[in-house]
Amino acid sequence: MAGDRLKREAAHAAVGRYVESGIVIGLGTGSTATFAVRRIGELVASGELRDIRGVPTSARTTALANELGIPLATLTEAYPRFTIDGADEISPELALIKGRGGALLREKIVASSSEEGLIVVADSGKLVDSLGAGPLPVEIDSFGWEATLEALASLGCKPELRMDWTDPGRPFVTDGGHYTADCAFDSIPDPASLETEIKHIPGALECGLFVGLTRTAVVAGEEGTQFMEPKPG
Ligand code: A5P
Repeated sequence: MAGDRLKREAAHAAVGRYVESGIVIGLGTGSTATFAVRRIGELVASGELRDIRGVPTSARTTALANELGIPLATLTEAYPRFTIDGADEISPELALIKGRGGALLREKIVASSSEEGLIVVADSGKLVDSLGAGPLPVEIDSFGWEATLEALASLGCKPELRMDWTDPGRPFVTDGGHYTADCAFDSIPDPASLETEIKHIPGALECGLFVGLTRTAVVAGEEGTQFMEPKPG
């Protein structure tokens, strides 16, 4: 599949350029991040990478890293130099929507704790002119979730409680035991303001808008791989 080939190219380019022995790395979640974690695992197994530790952003990534023999650390032990993770949408300013894979809260905690922020890995299909092409995930407390969805709707979106992929009869539950509201906005012209508004809703724990966290976006397309940095100012 072309999508998988490009995801792999972006992930391998990022690992090749930025990952070196002796550092702590945040390990993202999702299909593109998985290519990066697998590549790190190969380099650890071959001895080309030594003394690295990964801080995983989900139970899935923890299991994968354990399977690959990547040593792990918690945020109590060390902060990552950077986190390598995927994205659902990338704006021209390198603001992101993340979380359609269900791990946004832990992804944001690890990315925000990373000294240099986030190295985003993606295929060029993730580039958008303006965020909001698809729904914005918001991780919410299960207590009073109906009221939280109503409060989210008052911000001008159509929120839907995410149901479990394997059992559509029950809500999807995150690693932290929370629910997720997928919020369809017509567009998100000001992601930073919307993030602030969402965080004022008591039941909204965190949203999938990642603003000002991207250090570099490594984006693979048919014409090659670009390393995109935020514009200064
Ligand atoms: C997981 O919660 C997400 O933030 C993913 O990182 C994001 O959805 C990108 O996933 P893919 O690489 O699978 O498209």
